[in-house]
Amino acid sequence: MKLVDNKATLSFSNGSPSVDLPVYAGNIGPDVIDIRKLYAQTGMFTYDPGFLSTASCQSAITYIDGDKGELLYRGYPIEQLATQCDYLDTCYLLLNGELPNESQRGDFHKLVTNHTMVNEQMQFFLRGFRRDAHPMAVLTGLVGGLSAFYHDSTDINNPKHREIAAIRLIAKMPTLVAMAYKYGIGQPYMYPKNDLSYSGNFLRMMFGTPCEEYQVNPVLARALDRIFILHADHEQNASTSTVRLAGSSGANPFACIAAGIACLWGPSHGGANEEALNMLKEIGTPERIPEFIEGVKDRKYKLMGFGHRVYKNYDPRAKVMQQSAHEVLEAVGDPNDPLLQVARELERVALNDEYFIERKLFPNVDFYSGITLSAMGFPTTMFTVLFALARTVGWIAQWQEMMEDPSQKIGRPRQLYTGPTQRDYVPVERRG
Ligand code: ACO
Repeated sequence: MKLVDNKATLSFSNGSPSVDLPVYAGNIGPDVIDIRKLYAQTGMFTYDPGFLSTASCQSAITYIDGDKGELLYRGYPIEQLATQCDYLDTCYLLLNGELPNESQRGDFHKLVTNHTMVNEQMQFFLRGFRRDAHPMAVLTGLVGGLSAFYHDSTDINNPKHREIAAIRLIAKMPTLVAMAYKYGIGQPYMYPKNDLSYSGNFLRMMFGTPCEEYQVNPVLARALDRIFILHADHEQNASTSTVRLAGSSGANPFACIAAGIACLWGPSHGGANEEALNMLKEIGTPERIPEFIEGVKDRKYKLMGFGHRVYKNYDPRAKVMQQSAHEVLEAVGDPNDPLLQVARELERVALNDEYFIERKLFPNVDFYSGITLSAMGFPTTMFTVLFALARTVGWIAQWQEMMEDPSQKIGRPRQLYTGPTQRDYVPVERRG
């Protein structure tokens, strides 16, 4: 970050002396006002619940321009990566800053592939869960549990440990996710098959059985890989900030990613794709859309898969996702699927309605991902789990960046206290 010439001056109407605050510029995006010394200089905190105007760190990984609807991973537009790279190339890019050359690519694919198996004891750990547990609850437990199995990658001050923890998480996540699914439906676990692609292997572990050979459908593998790329990172969103905050205390990477998964589960974040599909099913037919829109305007419910804290334009991931939805439905479903008809019509109506235009509410990535995943055979309870699988690389890349940042400190927000001021203890018999 570069110090810029102009300073910000904060003045007070009560005559207290004003203070000058340094301003820094990034490479693109808004400048930031450095308030780190504000409390020492004025005895005041800033107040920004929800971080609406607060940059919590400096980062060189992902850039979003919400007004333009632009998303860049290490400078590359998401549309280019989603159509020209595979997910593991994207992982390499996010972790290392550059796309791999041919030999780096081969080595990285091999490295990840060699770590896909999980410790056999994980099966017994999994057995402690009820069969009908939500797979996000199971995944949070399993990933947290990894730190009990891989002691040789939990020393956060050792760069080799950090690197191998990152590879293990990326490699083992599909295996764990598929295990959680198979456990829920009572089928045997499928071990990873390392001659398949990352997404092909995952599809086989999810939908294959030991009874017969599983043929990977290349259209589905490509679509899934693209979904993983679209979800791989998204700057300082709630779950990534959770990972960073957990990591700022020195917690090990497996524990930090488990915290990220827990945060992602919420319906305002990763849980929205499940909610979006349920909403489309509930609407059922295009004729019911006007009535549904009225309910949104009366604030009875939200239009799930619409709106975003940062994008005040079309989410660029939603465009690629819409394309994938068509491809998948052509390949394995019904291109005239009534849910797709409802989604398209709902999008058309909302984009032309003053209520949504005024509030800059556009479809986000979750609007079409549910339809696509459902056509591929994933049950709705797995949607957020797939999001967690894909986002793991973003979380770990952000965690690594934080660990290497010399200005990193334990995250410790302050507060505006609104509770009782000091008072004396009253014995129970004298309390009214
Ligand atoms: N449907 C209807 N109205 C909405 C929606 C929506 N989906 N989203 C926002 N609004 C309205 C709000 O009611 C508010 O209106 P008001 O000014 O009249 O009170 C206005 O738009 C601004 O909304 P905020 O809640 O202030 O926006 P915020 O940035 O805090 O919320 C969020 C962003 C949480 C994503 C919100 O848009 C939402 O809940 N969307 C639905 C859930 C969803 O799709 N989440 C996925 C996000 S993407 C992801 O995690 C991958």
